[in-house]
Amino acid sequence: MARCKRGCFSIREVSCGGEAKAAPLRLSHNVIAPASARLARNDERELRHSLCGSGFFDSASSVLWQEGEARSKTGRSELSMDDILEIMKSRRSIRRYKQKDVPDELLDKIMEAGRWSPSGDNAQPWRFIVVRDPEVKKAMGKIATEGSGRRFTAEYFTGHMQERFKGLKDEEKKARAFEKLRSGAVSSFLADAPVVIVVCAKLDVWDVPYDAAMATQNMQLMAHALGLGTCVVVAPVSDMRDDLKTMGLLNVPHGYKIVAPLAIGYPDESPNPRPRLPLEDIVFYEAFGERREK
Ligand SMILES: Cc1cc2nc3c(=O)[nH]c(=O)nc-3n(C[C@H](O)[C@H](O)[C@H](O)COP(=O)(O)O)c2cc1C
Repeated sequence: MARCKRGCFSIREVSCGGEAKAAPLRLSHNVIAPASARLARNDERELRHSLCGSGFFDSASSVLWQEGEARSKTGRSELSMDDILEIMKSRRSIRRYKQKDVPDELLDKIMEAGRWSPSGDNAQPWRFIVVRDPEVKKAMGKIATEGSGRRFTAEYFTGHMQERFKGLKDEEKKARAFEKLRSGAVSSFLADAPVVIVVCAKLDVWDVPYDAAMATQNMQLMAHALGLGTCVVVAPVSDMRDDLKTMGLLNVPHGYKIVAPLAIGYPDESPNPRPRLPLEDIVFYEAFGERREK
């Protein structure tokens, strides 16, 4: 195990989606716990433990935690490009959580990451509602289940669902997946997430959806770096009638919109990565459709 000279904690073996990596991943201390909001000693221990248990950092003994901030001469934290990519690539949507409380300090860091997102005209239209009340989460879970049920039933009857799952050859598995989607049960987990941060946005700015999406993704990545799992669940707001119900539930005023309820908790599953399209299919040069010459 190597201790980073610059005040980072070092991780020797990082397992990501089954790919063991020998190269050390270095995360700066201040990414996890800046001096301005340093966690209490016990919380640090807890955090270290959660990082190891998260599936992102697999080996407890491989994590070194050191006091002090890691900053380069430019004032930027010491994260290499590979580290950042690794954080992005190893994030998964998590839908099963341990029934364990998520400390406010960690939620504050997640929302701090959201606060630093870019926005058109620097309008910062995002507002975050932290929901822990089980009754409110239960009501959101019910709306989400009904909304998903309608959406996926429509997908089924239009044939889109069959198209989406055409690669799945196991018919029993496919039938189970269809049932979970059509019943809406796929989104009921929202009720069981320890915390839901509801990302809202002010509507009278130009770039609302882009701004809110940027904040949400920053928050997902920060949560992941903290050993927490997240899942964006648009199910309770994707249909206008559901949106109104959810807004009423949370007292969201006229002039704002709920963009993305974000379920958060300690992961109780480690799903395989969902497939991604290869770069050569999605990248063009100079004009749409133009591929790089080989
Ligand atoms: C805008 C958006 C809406 C989503 N809505 C839901 C949802 O309602 N329910 C759900 O279970 N997952 C939802 N997800 C999660 C996606 O299913 C997930 O991101 C996708 O399958 C890729 O998997 P990954 O996040 O693990 O890489 C949503 C994700 C995004 C970005």
